[in-house]
Amino acid sequence: MKNKAVKIGLNSPCPCGSGKKYKYCCRNKKMEISLKEEYKKRYGIYLKEPYQVEGIRKSGALLISILDRVEQMIKPGLATEEINTFVHKETLKAGAISAPLHYRGFPKSVCVSVNEVICHGIPGDRVLKDGDIVNVDITPILDGYYADASKTFFVGTPTKKGQKIVSVAAQALKRGIETIAPGATLGDIGYAIQSYAEGCGCSVVREFVGHGVGIEFHEQPQVLHFGTRGKGLTLVPGMVFTIEPMVNLGKKELYVLEDRWTAVTNDGSLSAQFEQTLLVTETGWESLTPYEL
Ligand code: MF3
Ligand code: CO
Ligand code: CO
Repeated sequence: MKNKAVKIGLNSPCPCGSGKKYKYCCRNKKMEISLKEEYKKRYGIYLKEPYQVEGIRKSGALLISILDRVEQMIKPGLATEEINTFVHKETLKAGAISAPLHYRGFPKSVCVSVNEVICHGIPGDRVLKDGDIVNVDITPILDGYYADASKTFFVGTPTKKGQKIVSVAAQALKRGIETIAPGATLGDIGYAIQSYAEGCGCSVVREFVGHGVGIEFHEQPQVLHFGTRGKGLTLVPGMVFTIEPMVNLGKKELYVLEDRWTAVTNDGSLSAQFEQTLLVTETGWESLTPYEL
């Protein structure tokens, strides 16, 4: 049989019956679906549908409301365990669960990383003291959707070194975020972070990276906090991933404690981190865990 399919004109009414021109309707949907398929097949990346983005945004709003209240609690004398108890309870109260709890054997509901601890600090007996810096990294699962973000806070009166490393880490994240747009690459993000942090005389941790997030805790792609402009994967609308640079006041090397989680700077220098969950939009980016940097 001969194929009698008629080619649809770009300006003719869309066959789906929407009343819009074909070129503004199903022609694009078909392209979006093939892009989605391509990113899944080639890179294992799940581009998110608007309803999924809304789910992650709600999870992110809960996260930020808990993080804001944690900020109010931070003071000398507070045990890191008390932060865990608060995050755990408030997450459950909101109808969500804490992703870290029992994730690959992690024993608590939140990561709390003090001073020389780079990330994955386990809450416990350590008591915050005046001049410390403390990162609190929260990941709720609300209606099945993950949002992941963290901030580093001052305890009492900040030290000069504390002020410097917290500022550099925050501004490094800000610069990374501001490079996000369709057509930009993962290398652009890494370059923006690394060049800023190293330009300030600090170093960027290599062993831990940002990641796709939303439907699972850690999805593809890996988002390196160092790199070369123009290299790496091209960003497209619907990508959701974290950027979470860990910046050290001294050298970048680290080791992991006997507990197999706590990562600390090799030279004992201060380390700070900020993390947000970002969506690539048609025109740029949106933070799904928004706070000022
Ligand atoms: N929240 C961390 C991240 O940003 C992951 C923590 S894994 C845990 O990716 F098991 F320690 F919770
Ligand atoms: Co993360
Ligand atoms: Co996190």
